[in-house]
Amino acid sequence: MHLIAPSLLSANFLNLEKDIEMVNRSQADWFHLDVMDGVFVPNISFGLPVIEKIKTAARKPLDVHLMIVDPDRYIERFRKAGADIISIHAEACNHLHRSVYLIKQTGAKAGVVLNPHSPVSLLNDIIGDTDMVLLMSVNPGFGGQKFIENTYRKVRELKELILKKNSLAMIEIDGGVDLNNAPILVKEGAGILVAGNTVFASPDPEETIKLLKNF
Ligand code: DX5
Ligand code: ZN
Repeated sequence: MHLIAPSLLSANFLNLEKDIEMVNRSQADWFHLDVMDGVFVPNISFGLPVIEKIKTAARKPLDVHLMIVDPDRYIERFRKAGADIISIHAEACNHLHRSVYLIKQTGAKAGVVLNPHSPVSLLNDIIGDTDMVLLMSVNPGFGGQKFIENTYRKVRELKELILKKNSLAMIEIDGGVDLNNAPILVKEGAGILVAGNTVFASPDPEETIKLLKNF
């Protein structure tokens, strides 16, 4: 059964507790937290102090997606703040293998993220070391963008690579996930779906999570 990770980037920042409680109550599996530094991506979101607070209210694992340059500098602190899974962009790391092991040494699960333009083949020599691969299905930086259709092909290719290399890595998809593309993504091999706008802009977010979980 696939997992659902609502992205709090689309939640109400004026009343985060209410949205966290909704996710706690819902059929969602993880909280997806988007950290943006205004350098790696053209937007700034939230950071360590906010995640520390979210941790006190969240009753599900925190899936922290770092959209920051040179993430090695902060991995230990995000773990201390409560991250259970820490994902870093291949495009932001000069020594990706080292960064993946830095994450694992903290006790967190490690994820490697690929932007829409980065080929799956970039993962050939890291797929055996990473716990998860996050494929961006929009250009990172903002919620509510249009899903890039080429992602379907990339999921298929990634699934093949995982099988070929006997890797246990899970596949997560992030960006523009909705009720139409979700079943196709899962069929192609996705194990975790991130959803921001689809959940939080819907009239009944808890029900939308249920629909994303059960098809
Ligand atoms: C985009 C973020 C996503 C974003 C997804 O840079 O990584 O997690 O919140 O939002 P939606 O589902 O609205 O595209
Ligand atoms: Zn994200």
